[in-house]
Amino acid sequence: MGRLSRIAAIVVLAAAVLYVPVRRWTAGGVCESQARMDGKTVIITGANTGIGKVTAKDMAERGARVILACRSLEKAEEAAKEIRSQSGNKNVVVHKLDLASLTSVRQFAKVINDAETRLDVLINNAGVYVCPRWETEDGFEMQFGVNHLGHFLLTNLLLDLLKKSAPSRVVTVASEAHIFTNGIDFDDINYENNYDSEESYYRSKVANILFSRELARRLEGTGVTSNSLHPGIIYTEINRHREDYIREIVGAQLSKVANILMEGFVRMIGKTWEEGAQTTICCAVAEEWQNTTGLYFSDCVPKEPSAAGGDDEAAARLWDVSERMVGLKS
Ligand SMILES: NC(=O)c1ccc[n+]([C@@H]2O[C@H](COP(=O)([O-])OP(=O)(O)OC[C@H]3O[C@@H](n4cnc5c(N)ncnc54)[C@H](OP(=O)(O)O)[C@@H]3O)[C@@H](O)[C@H]2O)c1
Ligand SMILES: *[C@@H]1O[C@H](CO)[C@@H](O)[C@H](O)[C@H]1NC(C)=O
Repeated sequence: MGRLSRIAAIVVLAAAVLYVPVRRWTAGGVCESQARMDGKTVIITGANTGIGKVTAKDMAERGARVILACRSLEKAEEAAKEIRSQSGNKNVVVHKLDLASLTSVRQFAKVINDAETRLDVLINNAGVYVCPRWETEDGFEMQFGVNHLGHFLLTNLLLDLLKKSAPSRVVTVASEAHIFTNGIDFDDINYENNYDSEESYYRSKVANILFSRELARRLEGTGVTSNSLHPGIIYTEINRHREDYIREIVGAQLSKVANILMEGFVRMIGKTWEEGAQTTICCAVAEEWQNTTGLYFSDCVPKEPSAAGGDDEAAARLWDVSERMVGLKS
């Protein structure tokens, strides 16, 4: 055997031996809670696919009334049908919510506030990742606009219903990717200068964590908790804009190869959708976290966010800026 093939054989063997333990490790924590959600209402944004859909199915299996808040009614109805048939829970409904439109967020909140008698869990799950510098209907940079501002307004408009239903919970899906940014750039909140789609995503995810902490502070004593989390690395449709992004860097031909390699890698070491939903589910239902608020979770346990994610001054400032941007304050 030549030296090269010997090295290759060792690499393959090592990969084969290590695959199972590595994969078990990357699978992360599991929500062990058997808590039932009968009589409770849960709203999940972006629940038509990915980890949001798995979370919705889990809530339905626990007996909750589940409201899928999605921008495509067609995709959402499809998901709802599947969730109803798999869970045996008929109480799964769909309402239109486009987080890239403040009008849509307000309309959705009105529908909920008019028709629902309670809201026990709000799960801010929807997200967009590394899109070009698009703008929302209201002229906000897309990733900050959808991932943060849309959820900021939505949560605020549903707060009275959440308080009325206390003990209740707000769960915001952030990301460990927040560690890659130094924080929000308050001088260029709309990212008009030197837009970098990755950096924009990191900032929107640090915004999720800051928002969740500040919300917890403001809700002290109301019986409504607010926590954020990192779901893990999961191959989902979130990667839809990545191909364009990689094409920009390495060109059209290389990007095809790069994407196939990247997808293969993420699928191999990453979590399944079910594994990726576990931390959200823990934060939404686990009895042991019932009174826990203002924390960031990963693998079903609290974790320290980066310095930028734990910056309470930035959290207060972001709240103030966000209130003005979405028109809650002039
Ligand atoms: N996948 C990962 O590795 C990973 C890692 C860390 C954090 N996260 C976070 O996990 C969350 C869920 O991601 P996922 O991986 O499950 O992604 P996904 O499969 O792409 O699902 C994202 C969901 O968000 C919805 N959405 C996007 N823009 C929207 C808008 N303007 N209005 C309403 N809904 C909108 C999508 O709807 P459409 O189907 O109509 O586009 C979809 O339902 C995100 O917040 C993401 O940042 C994911
Ligand atoms: C949370 O607080 C309530 C009310 O004070 C208490 O009954 C319950 O045991 C607490 N739960 C946990 C897990 O600490």
